[in-house]
Amino acid sequence: MNLSVIGTGYVGLVSGVCLAEKGHQVVCVDIDPGKVDTINQGIPPIHEIGLDELLKKHAGKKLVATTDLRQAVLASEISLIAVGTPFDGERIDLKYIRKAAEQIGQILREKSTWHTVVVKSTVVPGTTDEVVLNALELASGKKAGVDFGVGMNPEFLKEGEAIADFMNPDRIVLGGVCERSREALSECMRFSCMWRKSARIAGRLK
Ligand SMILES: NC(=O)c1ccc[n+]([C@@H]2O[C@H](COP(=O)([O-])OP(=O)(O)OC[C@H]3O[C@@H](n4cnc5c(N)ncnc54)[C@H](O)[C@@H]3O)[C@@H](O)[C@H]2O)c1
Repeated sequence: MNLSVIGTGYVGLVSGVCLAEKGHQVVCVDIDPGKVDTINQGIPPIHEIGLDELLKKHAGKKLVATTDLRQAVLASEISLIAVGTPFDGERIDLKYIRKAAEQIGQILREKSTWHTVVVKSTVVPGTTDEVVLNALELASGKKAGVDFGVGMNPEFLKEGEAIADFMNPDRIVLGGVCERSREALSECMRFSCMWRKSARIAGRLK
């Protein structure tokens, strides 16, 4: 599949290289041009066991980084949002995820083929429906579940073992607003279930 990953921090970059390793074509998007350049040179901006090797293998081939969100969304079937959601001890700050959803929504306005937007960032229950889906609908002028898909696939990576955790999950949690969203997300993540037979797809949100 053609995938775009929005936000190339810890979760976005690890997800991007692992999805490339499993055969997907991945575009990683970030607002930080320095990070984008480093990734395109095959140099990981963070330390993680196995990341160096996988990034060297896929950079410029199955994985490219860019600051051009519009091109990345137009050229992909699924966008995985992996921007930061800083927690101050009391509340999660949703400004980055809200902004990313608004920007993707504006691009969906001009996209005629089906696109599924997936939340990978850590958020509290209800955020995907109340914040992300609403922002996408408002910015696109389209209806989720009818004109485009929305899904949820929370990440459970541990720093230091993130690549191994992604490649060998003991479970995958996903959900979607409609069958088409769930199918697109299952296809994107299915490799993990084959990778380890004990893995299971669970937790449909709807
Ligand atoms: N770090 C972990 O171990 C871990 C584990 C599980 C889940 N999570 C969750 O995953 C999410 C991402 O965490 P992280 O540690 O990777 O974050 P991070 O802050 O390291 O990276 C986020 C990236 O998103 C980019 N960004 C922000 N707005 C953008 C936009 N509009 N378009 C493109 N790029 C944009 C930033 O420049 C940054 O590079 C958070 O919700 C976090 O809670 C983190």
